[in-house]
Amino acid sequence: MAPAIYRVVSSARIALSYGPSYLFVVALRLLILVARGDIEDRTARTGVDLPPEKLSTSYDFIVVGAGSAGAVVASRLSEIEDATVLLVEAGGEEPALSDVPLMYPALQLSPLDWQYKSQPSDSANLAMVEARSSWPRGKVMGGSSTINAMLYVRGNRKDYDLWARSGNTGWSYKELLPYFKKAEDVGIGRLRGDPYHGQGGYLSVEEFKYYSPITDDFLRAGQEIGYEVRDINGQQQTGFTKSHGTLKDGLRCSTAKGYLRPAQGRPNLHIVLHAHVERLLIEKTTKRPTVKGVEFSRMGKRGIRVAANKEVILSAGSINSVQILMLSGIGPKEHLESKNISVVVDLPGVGKNLQDHIALGGITYLFDSPPESRPIGVGFVLPRVVTLNTLKKFALQKTGPLYGVPACEAMAFVNTKYANESEDWPDIQLLFASSGDNSDGGLFGRRNNGLTDDYYATVFEPILYKDAVSILPLLLRPRSRGAILLSDDDPASHPLIYPNYFNHPDDIEVMIEGAKIGYRLSQTEALKKYNIRLHNVPCTQCQNYTLLSDDYWKCQARQYTMTIYHPVGTCKMGPRHDPEAVVDPRLRVRGTRGVRVIDASIMPSIVSGNTNAPTVMIGEKGADMVKQDWGYRTDKVLKT
Ligand SMILES: Cc1cc2nc3c(=O)[nH]c(=O)nc-3n(C[C@H](O)[C@H](O)[C@H](O)COP(=O)(O)OP(=O)(O)OC[C@H]3O[C@@H](n4cnc5c(N)ncnc54)[C@H](O)[C@@H]3O)c2cc1C
Ligand SMILES: *[C@@H]1O[C@H](CO)[C@@H](O)[C@H](O)[C@H]1NC(C)=O
Ligand SMILES: *[C@@H]1O[C@H](CO)[C@@H](O)[C@H](O)[C@H]1NC(C)=O
Ligand SMILES: *[C@@H]1O[C@H](CO)[C@@H](O)[C@H](O)[C@H]1NC(C)=O
Repeated sequence: MAPAIYRVVSSARIALSYGPSYLFVVALRLLILVARGDIEDRTARTGVDLPPEKLSTSYDFIVVGAGSAGAVVASRLSEIEDATVLLVEAGGEEPALSDVPLMYPALQLSPLDWQYKSQPSDSANLAMVEARSSWPRGKVMGGSSTINAMLYVRGNRKDYDLWARSGNTGWSYKELLPYFKKAEDVGIGRLRGDPYHGQGGYLSVEEFKYYSPITDDFLRAGQEIGYEVRDINGQQQTGFTKSHGTLKDGLRCSTAKGYLRPAQGRPNLHIVLHAHVERLLIEKTTKRPTVKGVEFSRMGKRGIRVAANKEVILSAGSINSVQILMLSGIGPKEHLESKNISVVVDLPGVGKNLQDHIALGGITYLFDSPPESRPIGVGFVLPRVVTLNTLKKFALQKTGPLYGVPACEAMAFVNTKYANESEDWPDIQLLFASSGDNSDGGLFGRRNNGLTDDYYATVFEPILYKDAVSILPLLLRPRSRGAILLSDDDPASHPLIYPNYFNHPDDIEVMIEGAKIGYRLSQTEALKKYNIRLHNVPCTQCQNYTLLSDDYWKCQARQYTMTIYHPVGTCKMGPRHDPEAVVDPRLRVRGTRGVRVIDASIMPSIVSGNTNAPTVMIGEKGADMVKQDWGYRTDKVLKT
């Protein structure tokens, strides 16, 4: 343990630094108001929260959740001119601040976030308060695409071929690539016209407008250890790249911005905000229970019912789609009965098969910025980079560090000894941050990850605001499986989240090999010229292990088990013979009529990369399947 006085001093220092940082946020907000009409433009927002008296009693389609998938589905279905669409979202409008990339870490644990926490673990998340991991989820137009890190990554073609091979007809990479392209409007010059990229879609993809100078050296380090710098969303995934983002003119392009603002004027699309769907309305008289509508609460008023003439589409995300199904009586029988919910369809897979990406957090390398780069340096140290000058640059020149995301400026897909190199199906993603948990003085990283005071005081307080980078390995295809359960039958309660990180023994073995590849990068000329060195102060619980040994890495992995926020799989898509399948390959909920799930929860196995772009793709394909099944035209742009 750090001496008590040390912990108290650390906590006090952090508490005091909130003052200036809030001032900065307020200053930024005011500057946007006066100088950045492009961000401020209220009419450009989907601020079309439907007045209660305009709500119809029925719509052809009701989409629940305006997130990465739901915004896409609502936008595409409202292209059908003679169909009416209601989009029901629990959160409010996108605020102006979420447009600014650097504000990314400030959005968590705010009103834009559902603020979930996983259940305590005895073998992971040990450095976190109560051994619980924060699971942010967007509660706002655009859902998690409005609070995420904006990284644009599609995953590996083999991920999708695996889905298809397990019986999911129509979901091979070859069949899905047209949907990735349909969604995309690539603004990166050299990728325009590339056979793997799309132009004219609603999701704008760009390079970040700002990268810390040290980012290039990370790419060079990758080349030194034998990898190529390439477009990891193209022909081949293995390799290094600067991060590409879902960005428009350098600002966040959430799915609300990309897909719903252009659809705003459509008379057949109604959007209700601050409306929490509590359950599906189900008719049980027919052979198959048929979903006839939804019931939601809005601003304190409960029991608002709207009918669906054709279908309800659940796009509430991996946690909430499960919750809504279960509250409606669709889920594992015993569990529902134990919560006093009458069972409509016994569907054992609902909430099971939970998969998430975790990284081995806190791996910090100190370095020395070259004299000529000072005082700012080549990395990101909050008080040096975030200044009045930075604000001015952002407001007047539309450049500078506010256009960057230090938490992941570059990334790599690499092979540990457990992967087959010639397959191009890497098992580790390296996330390169131009900062460490010390660089923001504990304001965001520490708070968002829920680190204990003791951990922060012991490990990071001694190197406060020193130049640092992090190279974090992320386990791409975990074998552990978790679950989501209801805590009770109250729709306002948070469901119980059991990630079961490291339950499968292989996971930690692959993870620590990833940490070793990261360490190898620190030994390259490209990074050594900065006198780079592993920050070698272990936390109290790991101090008895030899630094860099397998046991040391394993200890740290169980302490700083860092979610990268990609829960998927809880409404698994699968063929009829798969007992755990919740939806069929056309995303219809088994044993029912009139309801589909279209969001990240349908992934049968997690993809080898960040999950936003794949979820947008699922939205595109899902919307097309709805159109096809009701005899509407899908558009003709679909060719590879
Ligand atoms: C902090 C963070 C960082 C991330 N960084 C990246 C990244 O850089 N790159 C990347 O590719 N992926 C990233 N991800 C993951 C990615 O954003 C998600 O996988 C993706 O957004 C999931 O989409 P979804 O449509 O399934 O759910 P969501 O986008 O979460 O949408 C669900 C929507 O449903 C609404 N809703 C839920 N319940 C109800 C209800 N009962 N009634 C009405 N509405 C409801 C929610 O408010 C929300 O708007 C990140 C995620 C987070 C949280
Ligand atoms: C279960 O539901 C019934 C009927 O809705 C109710 O009367 C009863 O009090 C509930 N029991 C519990 C334990 O919540
Ligand atoms: C690696 O993959 C290649 C190509 O798929 C295959 O031919 C080879 O047998 C694999 N090697 C091992 C050791 O599995
Ligand atoms: C580390 O070793 C010391 C001396 O053997 C012992 O007292 C201490 O409990 C150990 N700490 C941990 C976390 O295992």
